[in-house]
Amino acid sequence: MKVTFRYQDGTSETFEGSLGDTLMDVALDNGVQGILAQCGGGCTCCTCHCWVDDGWFDRLNPLRAEEDELLTYAWGRRTNSRLSCQIRLNEDLDGLSVEVPENQG
Ligand code: FES
Repeated sequence: MKVTFRYQDGTSETFEGSLGDTLMDVALDNGVQGILAQCGGGCTCCTCHCWVDDGWFDRLNPLRAEEDELLTYAWGRRTNSRLSCQIRLNEDLDGLSVEVPENQG
């Protein structure tokens, strides 16, 4: 399944992810600039923050309280902010597209 990362310079990259991967996994596997993921997916650092593109946000697993609290520390939090380590790929997310912030805190 394909996921696209859009960057602040207007470019984007699309990569292949596997069912059950997190979006963070795909970013790290492919060296996506701007997704630091310093805690390795433990939901304790918020350096894997991204903005989810229109049409995709409502298809994601719901925001849990732990993630919501951590996002308060994210640089540039928006209503479509999520932590990429908390987005697990499933069949409904083929084609998922997100924007990578210019900063991670
Ligand atoms: S990788 Fe640390 S919160 Fe997502």
